[in-house]
Amino acid sequence: MDRFIIYGGVPLHGTVHISGAKNSALPCLAACLLTEQPLILENLPAVRDITTTFHLLRTLGITLEENDVQAGASGIPARRRIVAHARQITNVEVPWELVRTMRASTLILGPLVARCGQAQVSLPGGCAIGARPIDLHLKGLEKLGAQIAVEHGMVIARADRLRGARIYFDRITVTGTEDLLMAATLAEGETVLENAAREPEVRDLAGLLTKMGARIDGVGTSTIRVQGVPRLTGATHGVIPDRIEAGTFLAAAGIAGGDLTIEDCCPDHLLAVIEKFRELGLSVESPTPTSLCAQCENPLRAADMTTEEYPGFPTDMQAQYIALATQASGPSLITETIFENRFMHALELVRMGANIRIEGNRAIVRGPTPLSGAGVIASDLRASASLVLAGLAAQGETIIERVYHIDRGYEHIEEKLRAVGAQIERVSS
Ligand code: EPZ
Repeated sequence: MDRFIIYGGVPLHGTVHISGAKNSALPCLAACLLTEQPLILENLPAVRDITTTFHLLRTLGITLEENDVQAGASGIPARRRIVAHARQITNVEVPWELVRTMRASTLILGPLVARCGQAQVSLPGGCAIGARPIDLHLKGLEKLGAQIAVEHGMVIARADRLRGARIYFDRITVTGTEDLLMAATLAEGETVLENAAREPEVRDLAGLLTKMGARIDGVGTSTIRVQGVPRLTGATHGVIPDRIEAGTFLAAAGIAGGDLTIEDCCPDHLLAVIEKFRELGLSVESPTPTSLCAQCENPLRAADMTTEEYPGFPTDMQAQYIALATQASGPSLITETIFENRFMHALELVRMGANIRIEGNRAIVRGPTPLSGAGVIASDLRASASLVLAGLAAQGETIIERVYHIDRGYEHIEEKLRAVGAQIERVSS
């Protein structure tokens, strides 16, 4: 298993380029199941979850042809392009081994049932950050007329023809909205998704589906209306930049000092993060619609933060925020409202010298505290990112084990950081 070795205390200077959004690429890849024509997707990030999804689609009989439009140089992502062609679906079963690797495999449920009238997908089970049930996905599919059974840990879904319905989500769910949005595009009649997720990744998926001939209104609001159509066609679509990767590099500039230019990003998708980082004392400017400049000229000052569904402060930036708050003067109260166990990184940060107290879904961070390098273990994707950030600020050497977690969602993060001066290297053992 690979590990990172980081020598901290080095300010960052230069430009980083943001890759395509993993959480947009995943549903967009699943959308290829909705048509027997080829789907061309561009700007896919070279991250493990995308590779896992390629494997998953191939087990269903999908052909995937990949070519890099622009091979990446050091620190610059390869603008990967894939032609996904679900001419025939020869298998509708997604085994536990695949879902265990990546719970977002459940995104193929809706498209498979809509296209083939059946799907068998292992229940994902919990993960490091929470129970993460998919009950809302299943309730929504039943509303559309699917018969759902759960046997031996497998969800078995069947439907002769999906029929449009009004679906109300008890909780806002990103992949639940995406799963049912895809299913609704081929359902007979109108589907209304109430209390739908408004994330940019949902909007990006809807943009792709519309190019494929779907009829969707209200995306980006909490009420999405879909008029079902008999079939969808192929399309070409570039996925949006990864807002969480861009936010992570903003945090890197804040915690390590120096000044960073972040290119190929979408500042409009990061307004809550930018405002909160400015409140902490980071100077953030947006010189162009696709770039950000971050400088940490003054000492950081504490600021409370609560995670919320989009357009609020994203839960996927909470761990990075906590790392930054350890260097801010005063107490910062961080409240996590989306997942029930998303403070695993705090325990490792305390081992590096941070002063963090966890009380239920709240973390009280008291700073600034000097961080010292230590051996730490990554527990999940965004927790790993916060450990990298802490390593950039810590005095001495930090060794981060199990970096496969970070490889799931960040494209060559160590290369991008090294390109702007960080002393970080990947050691394979
Ligand atoms: C998506 O996960 C993202 N993953 C997550 O990013 C992100 O943290 C999350 O949305 C919240 O923004 C992808 O898009 C692939 P949810 P998702 O359904 O869809 C509860 C990362 O780091 N819920 O919006 O699985 C659930 O337990 C990952 O890139 C139900 O109760 O999250 C949670 O408390 C981590 N029943 C809340 O809703 C359901 O059927 C929000 O979950 C579905 C969800």
